[in-house]
Amino acid sequence: MKEVAGKVAFITGGASGVGFGMAQAFCAAGMRVAIADIRSDHLDAAMAHFEGIGRRANVHPIRLDVTDREALSEAADETERHFGHVHLVCNNAGINLFGDIAEATYDDWDWILGVNLGGVVNGVQTFLPRLLEHGEGGHIVNTASMAAFIAGPAAGIYTCSKFAVRGLSEALRFSLAPRGIEVSVLCPGLVNSAIHESARVRPARLASTSGSSDREFMARLADLHARAGMTPLEVGDKVLRAIRRNDFYIFTHPEFKEELREIFAEALEALPEETPPPARLAFEERRRALKAQALLARRDG
Ligand code: NAI
Repeated sequence: MKEVAGKVAFITGGASGVGFGMAQAFCAAGMRVAIADIRSDHLDAAMAHFEGIGRRANVHPIRLDVTDREALSEAADETERHFGHVHLVCNNAGINLFGDIAEATYDDWDWILGVNLGGVVNGVQTFLPRLLEHGEGGHIVNTASMAAFIAGPAAGIYTCSKFAVRGLSEALRFSLAPRGIEVSVLCPGLVNSAIHESARVRPARLASTSGSSDREFMARLADLHARAGMTPLEVGDKVLRAIRRNDFYIFTHPEFKEELREIFAEALEALPEETPPPARLAFEERRRALKAQALLARRDG
């Protein structure tokens, strides 16, 4: 989407951290932005900011839990009533939980996957038919993380959810390119945000947890994000640039190059050194050609 001025964005988790950074960047570029968030205090603080810079009319706050499909559909209706057709959908709301995956409870799984993956699925299901119907083109940005590539022992369910968001985004990219809808997956490293406060929005019905509630650990985590994290606005600016260029991968942090190289080198090294049978080879070549064709259809269309 080369031209963004005058277009409409919908951002989940848009009132804090990465989502708020995107809202600021999009607003500064002349877009009108709906910020949907489960936390009223975050919405109030975000709106106070936009009021303060004289952009109140360009931003519309909506209280929303992304796991509530009906409410998401109503939020989409509300945004259309307020601003008109939505062109840019940022499925960004997310939470984190630190704890050993081997000790996880079903509530841990249901909460993290419900918000981090289910929220993205719900955003796509809600907005994709609308983007296709209005025919003015569109772009979907799904927030994953570097945890969509890099797994560690500390946040296994989170990692699982982010690998899934990456997979969903890649599949969508090829499906939607011929239909004029662009897709990106956002993979940040450390960002200065309020994600360490995730437990505050955990629903009571999914309360059973093995995650760390150690105050000292949470304080260290908050300090780490504040001290070492990239500013959300820098992330937002990088997202805006990627949307204008139609980049699929949005990598914001350069410090992961070596680790990505190691991960892909290990995978390539593990592939067997055998010659595949011609029929299988032909099938895979055809599949790859179809993928390339999908992206070409976008360029030509
Ligand atoms: P944040 O906590 O500052 O912002 C997330 C917002 O989402 C909050 O305002 C929160 O109230 C909202 N939210 C949480 N659950 C929700 C729900 N069920 N429905 C609607 N809104 C909900 O955190 P941050 O870091 O900005 O997180 C945004 C995204 O960025 C997440 O998907 C996260 O996984 C991702 N991310 C964050 C990184 C970091 O270092 N902070 C690194 C990589 C990815």
